[in-house]
Amino acid sequence: MKYHHLVLLCVALISIFCTKSAYSKVTVLNKSGDPVKTTVHFTVKKSLQLKCESDETGNVVWEKGGKSVETLNELKGRFELKDNKTVFTINNLKDSDVGNYTCAVYSNGNKISEYTVSLHTATSSKWGVRVSKNSNVVEGEKLTIKCEIRGELTLSWFYKNTTSGDNYTTLPGENGRVKLKDYYDEERKVNVTGGLLIIDEVDMGDRGEYICIGKSADGQMFNMTSTVRIKDKYAALWPFLGICAEVFVLCAIIFIYEKKRNKTELEESDTDQSPEQKNTPDHGKESNLRHRQ
Ligand SMILES: *[C@@H]1O[C@H](CO)[C@@H](O)[C@H](O)[C@H]1NC(C)=O
Ligand SMILES: *[C@@H]1O[C@H](CO)[C@@H](O)[C@H](O)[C@H]1NC(C)=O
Ligand SMILES: *[C@@H]1O[C@H](CO)[C@@H](O)[C@H](O)[C@H]1NC(C)=O
Ligand SMILES: *[C@@H]1O[C@H](CO)[C@@H](O)[C@H](O)[C@H]1NC(C)=O
Ligand SMILES: *[C@@H]1O[C@H](CO)[C@@H](O)[C@H](O)[C@H]1NC(C)=O
Ligand SMILES: *[C@@H]1O[C@H](CO)[C@@H](O)[C@H](O)[C@H]1NC(C)=O
Ligand SMILES: *[C@@H]1O[C@H](CO)[C@@H](O)[C@H](O)[C@H]1NC(C)=O
Repeated sequence: MKYHHLVLLCVALISIFCTKSAYSKVTVLNKSGDPVKTTVHFTVKKSLQLKCESDETGNVVWEKGGKSVETLNELKGRFELKDNKTVFTINNLKDSDVGNYTCAVYSNGNKISEYTVSLHTATSSKWGVRVSKNSNVVEGEKLTIKCEIRGELTLSWFYKNTTSGDNYTTLPGENGRVKLKDYYDEERKVNVTGGLLIIDEVDMGDRGEYICIGKSADGQMFNMTSTVRIKDKYAALWPFLGICAEVFVLCAIIFIYEKKRNKTELEESDTDQSPEQKNTPDHGKESNLRHRQ
């Protein structure tokens, strides 16, 4: 009787020891050389492949919330198991696929090793990255483009010079004019690394397309382009000067017209004057004034 208990205890201890020391991990297959992660972000409607690696040989069972994925209705017809079930593929990913997935290795009905990854949606909305479509800046002023993100994305920026027609170049370039900065997203409470593109003093050569590219851990790419237009420093001045010129021309026309009219009126009043009026210059002046009005 006592021996029986001791054997059980030993088995229990050994199994606990083995479970703890057993090597196993889950890798995301789509991205080669991906470091082992416990969190994976996926994109709705895409596929994701997870691979279970274990130094233990046995039956591999993929579980979600403690239940084998093979028994889950929510995954029915959307998943595949390959290579002795070590490779688990979920197709047509849905928001409901968020959760903890465990690759468990069983031997003789005992779980000898397990590894859990947590799946999150890379994008909780239709877009992954977002910048304003157009950025208009006045020459010599500061250009700031903010790249908003949804999900956990690593950002990079590219520039296409529309003046020269050159290919995309990586930003920041070598000349140090373009700076990338981090910003804090109040709403989602995360720091967005390299989410701000800043050029302190833009010149005409900076016009072009600025692309923010976001990459998720599972290799999904998102991009959006902001077209930057640089306005002439004096652009605002031209309409003003135009109005001034217009006013000046109008004044000149009125002035010349008035001068001309006065002249003809004076001539007219000189010839129109009746003999009485000639005798009384005061009246003549009055009628002249009336005429002018
Ligand atoms: C991951 O790999 C599977 C199988 O090769 C493929 O169908 C799927 O589109 C890939 N997913 C991504 C996000 O590249
Ligand atoms: C596949 O799994 C079975 C146990 O389920 C095992 O006997 C067999 O060796 C495994 N094959 C490979 C290639 O790992
Ligand atoms: C997944 O596991 C983590 C850590 O154990 C836990 O915080 C989280 O709530 C789990 N998620 C779900 C959907 O069960
Ligand atoms: C742009 O890049 C492509 C391929 O990388 C190359 O074929 C093409 O010649 C390049 N164009 C210019 C203008 O450099
Ligand atoms: C964001 O970065 C700032 C400064 O680098 C740091 O103080 C803050 O704790 C970070 N916030 C989060 C949520 O990581
Ligand atoms: C874009 O091309 C024009 C013409 O070659 C050049 O003058 C300008 O400096 C370029 N802009 C940048 C930001 O390199
Ligand atoms: C941006 O995304 C579109 C659509 O996904 C793709 O066709 C295009 O090549 C991407 N552009 C860059 C510069 O990665």
